[in-house]
Amino acid sequence: EKGGFPSFMAKEIHDQPQAIADTLLGRVDAGGRLQLDEMKISEAELRTVDKIVVIACGTAAYAGQVAKYAVEHWCRIPVEVELAHEFRYRDPVVSERTLVVAISQSGETMDTIMAVRHAREQGAKVLAICNTNGSTIPRESDAVLYTHAGPEIAVASTKAFLAQITACYLLGLFLAQLRGNKFSDEVAQVLEQLHEIPGQVRQVLDGLEQVREIARYMADTRSVLFLGRHVGYPVAMEGALKLKELAYIHAEGFAAGELKHGPIALVEPGQPVFVVVPSPRGRDSLHSKVVSNIQEVRARGARTLVIAEQGDTAVEPYADVVIRVPQTSTLLSPLLAVVPLQVFACELATAKGLDVDQPRNLAKSVTVE
Ligand code: M6R
Repeated sequence: EKGGFPSFMAKEIHDQPQAIADTLLGRVDAGGRLQLDEMKISEAELRTVDKIVVIACGTAAYAGQVAKYAVEHWCRIPVEVELAHEFRYRDPVVSERTLVVAISQSGETMDTIMAVRHAREQGAKVLAICNTNGSTIPRESDAVLYTHAGPEIAVASTKAFLAQITACYLLGLFLAQLRGNKFSDEVAQVLEQLHEIPGQVRQVLDGLEQVREIARYMADTRSVLFLGRHVGYPVAMEGALKLKELAYIHAEGFAAGELKHGPIALVEPGQPVFVVVPSPRGRDSLHSKVVSNIQEVRARGARTLVIAEQGDTAVEPYADVVIRVPQTSTLLSPLLAVVPLQVFACELATAKGLDVDQPRNLAKSVTVE
């Protein structure tokens, strides 16, 4: 059932183009409207939404963080992303005009279930983005948008993550269109780019022999840092989480702009640092800031492993290794940039002889608080 792959995780990473394509499939009707699976929130109510709060845990929360950049840009609605277990013990400021988006692969994460209940008690509407039909979170929510990633067996989430980001993007595009704001003209163009992503993920997967080789050489590494800015920041966090949970290596992801506020003190000669570089075709200063960050850690002896778009030559002088991803818009780039980091963690853990599908101390679904 692993389809010839050494682990479920390797198979699930390979299945990602399908997971994204299936999540997109049949979602947009002829009029360009998003089809949700279940919707007990009226369009009139959605038009009045003045704040979105994403609640989730672990990888699902990083999907929410990625979505924040896109949804705020497209919809001009403020988006907060909060870990479900933090949200539920606060006195959160939510109202009938707040749309709470609960993201969960399993739909059974107890912290997220409790946060959904807490949000509804305060009068908020809850929309679930979930991969498991009929599970508790969608059952307790007002609306559901299912991710069609198929069953995810490996404890580490991979294909569900990409499907969650895809579903969040669909939701963001739908809200932008519904609210008829300035951005709504661009919706068709973004949808078109989104439909190209499965093929581009396949291209990334087909070109990762170099990453696999590097991972095998790094089996004795004690610590790896991950840097990113903008949408690259949650990608860096997700890369670090994958490495911790699978390979039991100390890994830390942080916003590249934080470097000089502390973390750069960690960099010593030989320290591996992954850097997620935004597109040079996007906001110019964003790209050049990240290139400067690569230079800063390299000057302190870091070994820089840089994920950059095809054709971005500016990174070459400062990168020990360049991992290429196809060109897309900055907001969609996490769907490509995270893939080498997943493969890196999976390969390194395998090289250490670890069980990548069942890492120690972890459960696939955390059904206790
Ligand atoms: O089933 P859920 O999406 O609610 O699970 C949330 C987290 O427990 C999950 O993403 C966890 O962080 C994974 N092990 C990450 O790979």
